[in-house]
Amino acid sequence: MRRAIFPGSFDPLTMGHLDIIERSVDLFDEIIIAVLNNPEKNPMFSPEERCRMIEEILPGVKSGDCCLRVASFSGLTADYARKKNATAIVRGIRAISDYEYELRMALMNRRLEPEIETVFLMAAEEYSYVSSNLM
Ligand code: PNS
Repeated sequence: MRRAIFPGSFDPLTMGHLDIIERSVDLFDEIIIAVLNNPEKNPMFSPEERCRMIEEILPGVKSGDCCLRVASFSGLTADYARKKNATAIVRGIRAISDYEYELRMALMNRRLEPEIETVFLMAAEEYSYVSSNLM
């Protein structure tokens, strides 16, 4: 069973996130879209609203044999991935500007959970500059 988590704020989920999900489904048997409960970031939508919005669009996602789930979590991504017995953390890279932040996060997550691999996928070009807070 290859289980991954795809963590993020998803405030809200964008077409770019959806593109990453659709690219991940052939790599894993199960992907948990893990919505960070991050009140200190002053999010536009509550974790419940973000999860509900994602659940509403999931039936339209081409997921093949991969099971897609949605859940919210608090605390550290690495802890959550371990608790869920995930072997990978999926993250999307849009442009080179994402790289340094993602690298730092991946190295920290690896230090916390050396057995869990971060898998980076490149978003489609048309989503390179799409973000949740700069549409
Ligand atoms: O969608 P985002 O805001 O780019 O996602 C960032 C997220 C939620 C993946 C990141 O902030 C995160 O993992 N937060 C949980 C706290 C944590 O694990 N910190 C240590 C790794 S830097």
